[in-house]
Amino acid sequence: MATETIDTVAVLGAGSMGHGIAEVFAIGGCDVRLRDVEEELVDDGYEQMRWSLEKLAEKGLIDESAETVLDRVSTTTDVGEAVRDVDLVVEAAPENMDLKRDIFGELDELAPADAILASNTSSLSVTEISEATDRPERVVGMHFFNPPVKMDLVEVVYGDHTSDETAETVHEFAESVGKTPIYVRKDVNGFVVNNVLVPFMEEAAWMLSTEDVDIRAADAAMVFRRGYPMGPFELADYTGIDIGYHARKEAGREVPPVWEEKVSAGHNGKKSGRGYYVYDEDAADDGE
Ligand code: 3HC
Repeated sequence: MATETIDTVAVLGAGSMGHGIAEVFAIGGCDVRLRDVEEELVDDGYEQMRWSLEKLAEKGLIDESAETVLDRVSTTTDVGEAVRDVDLVVEAAPENMDLKRDIFGELDELAPADAILASNTSSLSVTEISEATDRPERVVGMHFFNPPVKMDLVEVVYGDHTSDETAETVHEFAESVGKTPIYVRKDVNGFVVNNVLVPFMEEAAWMLSTEDVDIRAADAAMVFRRGYPMGPFELADYTGIDIGYHARKEAGREVPPVWEEKVSAGHNGKKSGRGYYVYDEDAADDGE
């Protein structure tokens, strides 16, 4: 049984996962520092949090007003300021091992010696990330699903060096902010859920290259006939085509040609205005 309490948390990265994770912690009553590399990115994440909290408050899904929850969140571009006196840091930066190792090396210097350092990585090795620090036993995976505020599951991923106390503290903390955590005791690429979910999106993308598939019809079939909340193309757009792309690349696997095309054109899905579908006409520069 873990004994540590977590009251103050820093979230590094204000993108779709980062701001959503920060929102979960703030709703759960924590003081949250949200940090990204540029002010515009942090402000954007903060505004998306406001949008989401207002929706939840309107529907009575949270007990407090959006403003009261937001009062517990501060924003910064300074890592040192973000992690000062925190109990936990959750890194939600892009899926690149060198970048994550750099961040964890810096965190090891700047965060309190007893703080837990967690990564929201969806597929990279927690062990390798932890080895960029002098406290690998205090490094753990804390993997949320998009949108964090609506998806209950959190994977608590052990690296080879993660202590039981660290994993148990994060597991208890996830429960305390209303999530349903599961332990992933083996640091395998993609952990549990993405090992099942990424192929769902990947197979659909391969079908586009090899068969005559209609995107809307395929999505509709999975939603209306199979009862899935989203079809494979809509889900890829929602989570970001680049996420599955990088996960597969990092695992040394060949990616579907359509993912290569979309990612190199910057058409990563909903967040960039265009993926398989068009969300923002200004982003649709080569027609659908
Ligand atoms: N905050 C607040 N409100 C939100 C919201 C958010 N983040 N997202 C959607 N809403 C609102 C909508 O605007 C809508 O509001 P309205 O009624 O006023 O119009 C309302 O919630 C209902 O939304 P939807 O009709 O879209 O549907 P649901 O709420 O039933 O479900 C969903 C939304 C939970 C996203 C559902 O479609 C779903 O479960 N999709 C699959 C998601 C999934 O599989 N995620 C995992 C992806 S993999 C991953 O994340 C791993 C990572 O490593 C990549």
